Amino acid sequence: MTTSTRTMTDPLDFTDPQVLGYMLVPHRNFNLINGVHSPDEVDQIQNLEIRDSDIFAVTYPKSGTIWMQQILTLIEAKGDVTPNTEHLNAQCVPWIELIGSEKEFNATLSPRLRVTHLQYKFMPLAVRQKRGKVIYVARNPKDVLVSYYHFHKYAAMLETPKDFNDFFEKFMEGKVFGNCWFEHIKTWYANRDNMNFLYITYEEMIKDLRSVVERMCRFLGKDLTEEQMASVVEHSTFRTMKQNPQANYKTMPDSLLDHNKGTFMRKGTIGDWKNHFTVAQSERFDSVFQEKMRDLPLSFTWDINSAT
Ligand code: PPS
Repeated sequence: MTTSTRTMTDPLDFTDPQVLGYMLVPHRNFNLINGVHSPDEVDQIQNLEIRDSDIFAVTYPKSGTIWMQQILTLIEAKGDVTPNTEHLNAQCVPWIELIGSEKEFNATLSPRLRVTHLQYKFMPLAVRQKRGKVIYVARNPKDVLVSYYHFHKYAAMLETPKDFNDFFEKFMEGKVFGNCWFEHIKTWYANRDNMNFLYITYEEMIKDLRSVVERMCRFLGKDLTEEQMASVVEHSTFRTMKQNPQANYKTMPDSLLDHNKGTFMRKGTIGDWKNHFTVAQSERFDSVFQEKMRDLPLSFTWDINSAT
């Protein structure tokens, strides 16, 4: 965390993470956010009773979480956009790791749609024995880093980076919520056969949203009419979601997201990393990527103009 330079006479700044008491707290080699997560409650997640109808969208931060929340809600509502306009996406598809989630999870009728940024090891044991369904969304990690950098500048619960280079180093060292991107994807993907598991990428969704929604529907056993499908896709585009204050988190108070400093639906594209990374940073990232991803049969789209 940054060292506070505030003197006794300065007024308190309630957007300052230190004032709010937010800070990263390591727990079982994973950083939680004090005030947002409780280590004891996170440890209870593994004991949750899981129903076959439970659906978990799993993401490393900034990989398309809110997009999944939008699509899952729309699929469940058969294209009716009412739930997405009346409630925040995080209310339609809540997090399992936030303080107080367990009680709410147990009390919710099926189907329970949930998201998580947690690593595989924290998941309910039943999920790791093929109960419920898991959709893992991955995004090319250079764009994740850039999106996360901008998010840190306006999210009160995260430390404001000194500059891009400062954040680049923290991300590479896994000193962020979500920890190491490589570890996250590797542990989830390596264990895919233990779960009912669908792997999709942010870039596929950018390039052909409809075919990803169709894959999701097949995986979830949902049979939508042509009209319903068209509505799901239309209301999940970046353009439409950016105009929806609930999907854009515009209704969140400034004390949590300082809307003067950024916006949740920022660019929504592939390759913005090129506007941020130096050549040296890019080369260093590539070499770490090659080393760490050596054993995973996964490839990413790094450029909006790439064919695949
Ligand atoms: S969080 O904080 O972890 O929940 O953030 P997350 O929702 O995972 O990621 C936010 C980024 O996803 C982009 N986004 C989209 N891109 C394209 N189309 C749609 N519909 C869409 N919805 C969300 C959002 O713009 C953030 O990426 P950046 O690169 O910052 O724009």
